[in-house]
Amino acid sequence: MLSQQDNEILTRVGPGTPMGALLRRYWTPALLSSELPAPGCDPVRVRLLGENLVAFRDGTGTVGLIQENCPHRGASLYFGRNEDCGLRCAYHGWQFDTAGNCVDMPSEPATSSFKERVKARAYPVHESGGIAWTYMGPADTMTPFRDFGTDSLPQEHHLAAKLQCYCNWVQTMEGNVDTAHISWLHSWNGAADIPDDGSDKPGYPSNRMTWKFWLHDRAPRLEVEDTWYGFRYAGLRTTPNGHTNVRITEYVAPYSTIIAAIPYNTRHLMVVPIDDDNCWRYTFDTTIPANPQGHGGAPLFDYGPFETPFTRRVGGITPRNYLAEADYHIDREVQRTTTFSGVADFVSQDLMVTESMGPIYDRSQEHLGTIDKAIIRMRNQLVRSAKKLAADDTPPPALAGDFRSIRGADKILEDGQDWRVLGTDADPAVQEAEAAIRQPAAGD
Ligand code: FES
Ligand SMILES: [Fe+2]
Repeated sequence: MLSQQDNEILTRVGPGTPMGALLRRYWTPALLSSELPAPGCDPVRVRLLGENLVAFRDGTGTVGLIQENCPHRGASLYFGRNEDCGLRCAYHGWQFDTAGNCVDMPSEPATSSFKERVKARAYPVHESGGIAWTYMGPADTMTPFRDFGTDSLPQEHHLAAKLQCYCNWVQTMEGNVDTAHISWLHSWNGAADIPDDGSDKPGYPSNRMTWKFWLHDRAPRLEVEDTWYGFRYAGLRTTPNGHTNVRITEYVAPYSTIIAAIPYNTRHLMVVPIDDDNCWRYTFDTTIPANPQGHGGAPLFDYGPFETPFTRRVGGITPRNYLAEADYHIDREVQRTTTFSGVADFVSQDLMVTESMGPIYDRSQEHLGTIDKAIIRMRNQLVRSAKKLAADDTPPPALAGDFRSIRGADKILEDGQDWRVLGTDADPAVQEAEAAIRQPAAGD
């Protein structure tokens, strides 16, 4: 559990809050590049960390992210005209460029220099991997863009998507570092009858067989290791044949996780607060897939009998077809007989449990068990970083480093093998797949 005071620190992200100050020190996804498809296209409303902003792509293709309310008398610049040199307010025609400068003030006398003294709040934007990222912190503490691998990714390999979650960002994050729930929330009875295809032995099991493991051992042991960027943790399960299956998930401060996948995974799941009560869940690829069927070099996850928007390689804004108002279309007969949740869509199973806690759960009411080790570590790291920044301006962790070498992983351990090597640069599976990516395709 957390004290109510620490819960407030953990969850509140608006301007002036300790966590809001921490999050503003990092480059953050503001919107998908595809939401602004061409120079001069329609502007887009962006709510980020509790601030109302408007994004636009000017006539040169540069993306601007500025305050939504016009500095003149507050009309929403969302209704403005996106003209060559910037966004022009629909009320009296004041125009602002991507840096927030007022570049035209046609309602004032031609001799006036007033426009030079008016500025819209504007945040810098860096487009990478199909996402327009921004930095909302103080100008003098801005660090270079954290490249997760997207900066060198050719445009034809960009795959970025986002899904809105109607709850606080930490609740969504907690689901990402909770390997235990796959043995329960996402389980289905049929997994017990999956025929043994021979891959329940040291090495890489088939994706299908992992369903069997999750159902066979529903109380995984967790081991958590701190790293320079946050932590990585292993969920260890005993397989039906008595081996040890390990699932390694990465947490990259402050927003990101890389979920375990066979043999390894570089696909980030980044949770970005819209405000205290809502967040976007971004997914984006960071490498050219070694396996063209897969994401980030890893084969596609097997979603078993469930529907999911993520089995298709589709970018953009993922529609929400399963909502709280409809009780996520829970089917009680299916829940009694077939699947643990009774919800047909895999991701909506997660949304059902995280959103049903309420917008911000009061963590002083909870009772944490051994399966919650990684969640505790994440909260502690976040709260500690926010408090230290507020107390004496201690710089937050993971502002710089080689983020491309962070990978989730999933394997059945060889005799005496240490899980800590899996997914690192020293892992032979990583070296082999990266060599395959570098290898020119036949005919090139
Ligand atoms: S309110 Fe925008 S120009 Fe007047
Ligand atoms: Fe889940």
